Amino acid sequence: MQAKTPEDSRTIMTDLVLPSETNPLNNLFGGELLARMDRAASIAARRHSRRIVVTASVNHVAFNKAVPLGSVVTVEAAVSRAFKTSMEIFIDVWVEDRESGTRSKANEAIYTFVAVDETGTPVKIPPIEPETDLEKERFAAALRRKQLALVLAGKMKPGDATELKALFVNS
Ligand SMILES: CC(C)(COP(=O)(O)OP(=O)(O)OC[C@H]1O[C@@H](n2cnc3c(N)ncnc32)[C@H](O)[C@@H]1OP(=O)(O)O)[C@@H](O)C(=O)NCCC(=O)NCCS
Repeated sequence: MQAKTPEDSRTIMTDLVLPSETNPLNNLFGGELLARMDRAASIAARRHSRRIVVTASVNHVAFNKAVPLGSVVTVEAAVSRAFKTSMEIFIDVWVEDRESGTRSKANEAIYTFVAVDETGTPVKIPPIEPETDLEKERFAAALRRKQLALVLAGKMKPGDATELKALFVNS
């Protein structure tokens, strides 16, 4: 299979925060942001694999900044690493300042998607070749994150998570 780049899967979704999507503090409801990120990540995973994709796990979410009612929110997702049938999707969330138009990073998240056939059986996906420094950094760390997710899910023995263990032993 021919290798792809993170750029090939990059997905950018921009939308407003409406009153029905906020919490009692008039900020974007966390579950609504998770759904927006899941949708963008799903499109990115589909663009990379050109297969049916399902969310396997949400590995990391950081709600660093509240997103107020009326904000223009951009969710940007791209595949950061492809494994055999699974892929890591890195998601950056940006909020646009109403007056200046400048974008600031509000949140980020990391999802894992698996490509499957019509029966739900995992299928092989194309490899990925990161290009920029940031893409290379995210690609390198993705293996440790996969090992951590599998250990936490009870699908890998901690002793087998070689790269993850090395992070603690060598630091
Ligand atoms: C995701 C799913 C296809 C994995 O099936 P499985 O039987 O565990 O398949 P495998 O063990 O062969 O794993 C397939 C891949 O997923 C990865 N994977 C499985 N569970 C994972 C987890 N919790 N975190 C990260 N990766 C995971 C495996 O490492 C493997 O990756 P690789 O092939 O790239 O090495 C299956 O669990 C499923 O269909 N889940 C429901 C998905 C869904 O409905 N999502 C929407 C939520 S409502």
